[in-house]
Amino acid sequence: MYWHIEMLMCGIIAYSGFREATEVILEGLRRLEYRGYDSAGLGAINGKGIELRKCVGRITNLNELITQKPVSSSTAIGHTRWATHGPPNLENCHPHCDATGRLAIVHNGVIENYKLLKNRLLDLGHKFTSDTDTEILAHLIGHFYDALPASEDKLLIAVKKALAEVDGTYGIAVIHADEPGRIIGARRGSPLVVGLGEGENFLGSDVSAMVSFTRDVIYLNDLDVVDINDSSYKISTLHTTKVTRQKSRVDWDAGDAEKGEFPHFMLKEIFEQPTSLRNVMRGRLNWDHGDAKLGGLQEVKLSQVKRILLLGCGTALHAGMMAEYVIEELSGVPVETDFSSEFRYRNSPVDQGTLVFVISQSGETVDTLAAMREVQRKGVKAYGLCNVVGSTIARESDGGVYLHAGPEIGVAATKSFTSQATALVLIGLALGRTRSLSAREGSELLAELSRLPENVEKVLNTSEAIKKVALRYKDSQSMLFLGRLANYPIAMEGALKLKEISYIHAEAYPAAELKHGVIALVSPETPSLIIATRDGVYDKNRSTIQEIKARSGQVIALANEGDSDITETVDSSILVPETHPLLQPIVNVVALQLFAYYTAVALGRDVDKPRNLAKSVTVE
Ligand code: G6P
Repeated sequence: MYWHIEMLMCGIIAYSGFREATEVILEGLRRLEYRGYDSAGLGAINGKGIELRKCVGRITNLNELITQKPVSSSTAIGHTRWATHGPPNLENCHPHCDATGRLAIVHNGVIENYKLLKNRLLDLGHKFTSDTDTEILAHLIGHFYDALPASEDKLLIAVKKALAEVDGTYGIAVIHADEPGRIIGARRGSPLVVGLGEGENFLGSDVSAMVSFTRDVIYLNDLDVVDINDSSYKISTLHTTKVTRQKSRVDWDAGDAEKGEFPHFMLKEIFEQPTSLRNVMRGRLNWDHGDAKLGGLQEVKLSQVKRILLLGCGTALHAGMMAEYVIEELSGVPVETDFSSEFRYRNSPVDQGTLVFVISQSGETVDTLAAMREVQRKGVKAYGLCNVVGSTIARESDGGVYLHAGPEIGVAATKSFTSQATALVLIGLALGRTRSLSAREGSELLAELSRLPENVEKVLNTSEAIKKVALRYKDSQSMLFLGRLANYPIAMEGALKLKEISYIHAEAYPAAELKHGVIALVSPETPSLIIATRDGVYDKNRSTIQEIKARSGQVIALANEGDSDITETVDSSILVPETHPLLQPIVNVVALQLFAYYTAVALGRDVDKPRNLAKSVTVE
């Protein structure tokens, strides 16, 4: 099964055209660095052969290397790696060459039958210098290339012959010194996009790699093979000689993927939330009927839905968990959430009455993709909630809702979370309106939804106050995050943000669970952050605060503005405006994003590229 995927979480860029190719590759890699940042490399055709530049670590290191040892070229390929197989050393860094050193390849994915192929090539006298499956693929393509007569279309045929023997996944770009100007790309289970320019063409693992140069792209399908040079492109498949794929226009530009005046992408993205929230709601609020209209779900008979299943990983899962409370409250339809990674291996029943959503910012997360395919295999439709247009989940799902949050570059997800949560509230509203939710109740929610960007703005305006609280607790070794109902997933998201970027251990619990074990951790050294905004469990949260105070624990309360009953009893407060109880969690999470951000900055962490993480987890 080719969708039994275990991809490397790397970035690819390839260029043929009138510009200095190494500069295009470096620019593309810089924009792809969020996909992985263990090592980086490029290969360029220089008129005589292929020149390689590789380094361990960040793209800045590769930049320095190229400044010291420049390469001039019009055709080049580049790669940034997040190591899975083999450590991030120079030997394992891409590009990899064939036996002649005249063919080079960059690759995302895993060649599952690499041992078999390697043994075959070893018998033929090939020698390998790295631990990677990619080098084996390079040698295999080279092996076929060298055996073909000059009269044949050697590079294209050799790539296809090699790929026909490969079990596993790949997104590749291949160049050969004897065919300057030409790049062959192919994909199977790993994204590859063609960028179309005037006198230049590109290949990339996602559009951000090329968006500074072109916004005209073609998203390739699995098994597609593309042949580009500076002035033309031709798409075929492994089994056919020509196919036509639709051109798309990227609806954001390079400026949207720049930090601008912000010190980090994460802070920029936190501050973009009033805009991203407006975008996710644009055209979807049906004021006439106190309802939501979601084009991508038009064919779903909402009144007949018996159950909802929400699948995702990390932050996306937390959005689903929050929505579980909100959708049940609005519609009475039972909602279940699950980790995509668990669902894909469980034998969980789904039937025609189950409305399934897979939630994913990138639309490429391998576990979520596999979970979606598992649902579809059972004959049930799966709908996507994605941010990245043209992503695999967006294309393979049976419909869905785009988030329109714009590019999210910071590894820790922020604006995608609030957009996912808001889209799910809209889904809950639409479901509710087919049941007992009245038009008046629907309109009240719409009114509060339309004020959501403003309320988030108010939280952003208190960022200095949140920073002060963060500085007070930044040296904690560990923290507890507590919340009830829909604020429990918000506590989880707050704890995840803190862990991801500050490396402080943080645990989230439903506040009432504190008594069942976790309270043993409460001490002056382990502060508790409790979400105690006004809602139906407000008094319960106040009791929890007392329980912690009685055990000499420090309490940070996330409370509504003007709530002196809370602020007077706790050590520190983070204050947020009050809104509809079902939307309050979305406002609350923004404060927790800022809390984590300022803590991480104070500790000198690499906020946008935290250790060991990658933005898009395309590996199991
Ligand atoms: C990774 C990222 C998280 C993200 C999760 C799911 O773990 O570091 O920020 O929430 O993947 O990603 P997705 O693209 O599917 O939303």
